[in-house]
Amino acid sequence: MVVDKSQERVRRMFGAIAPKYDRMNHLLSLNIDLYWRWRTVRMLPAEGTMPILDVCTGTGDLAFAFLKRTRGQIPVVAADFCHEMLEIGRRKKRAVENAGQIEFVEADAQELPFRDNTFQIVSVAFGLRNVADTDRGLREMARVCRPRGRVAVLEFSMPRRQPMKALYGWYFRAVLPRIGQWLARNEHQAYRYLPQSVSEFPEGSRLVQHLEAAGLENVRYYPLTLGIVTLYVAVKPAA
Ligand SMILES: C[S@@+](CC[C@H](N)C(=O)[O-])C[C@H]1O[C@@H](n2cnc3c(N)ncnc32)[C@H](O)[C@@H]1O
Repeated sequence: MVVDKSQERVRRMFGAIAPKYDRMNHLLSLNIDLYWRWRTVRMLPAEGTMPILDVCTGTGDLAFAFLKRTRGQIPVVAADFCHEMLEIGRRKKRAVENAGQIEFVEADAQELPFRDNTFQIVSVAFGLRNVADTDRGLREMARVCRPRGRVAVLEFSMPRRQPMKALYGWYFRAVLPRIGQWLARNEHQAYRYLPQSVSEFPEGSRLVQHLEAAGLENVRYYPLTLGIVTLYVAVKPAA
């Protein structure tokens, strides 16, 4: 079965779960999602004054992690095409230090409203899988990244080793969708969409090929938490 990732469906689905999105994330991952974002920003040291862009930012947690890591010294742009998610991000902004350095922008990852070579880091966490055209999204991320800058993708993956493979497979496909649907009731079946979209999405060396096809090089990937999530880091070649 091919998952329906039409723009409108994805946007409405995230709009419907937006008020519960953060709580559900922390609950379903037992707060390990905080660690994944922390690891991501540690793997991507920022320098100078060029801004950082986080696409498919949702409520902005990775963007806030960059803001915290750089102590507000570097501007962070947080972009998403779902208005409801961005509104929650903007609300959260009021409670953080250096809030002036983070800006939420409504934008489609496949058509970013930024000039070429603008950002030193361009990241996406748990978002690329939802973008209708993965390659177009990656090409846009590469385009707006500066030469020698880094493009990072944090995404779910499936563990390869037993018994984790079987145990996690059961939790992810059978338990999580039920708990998710039950706690964040929504007509879009968002928590059934999650395992379906992950199982169809390329991971490991297959995603590396997509990053390379977008013109990126030196792609490395790091399985985290026994492989339930993978962080990919790529470099944009020098001009
Ligand atoms: C699972 S959430 C991830 C949010 C956040 N990055 C995080 O780590 O929690 C996926 C986000 O991708 C956004 N998204 C999906 N397709 C998009 C697109 N084409 N352009 C911009 N945002 C998109 C959705 O609106 C949603 O907020």
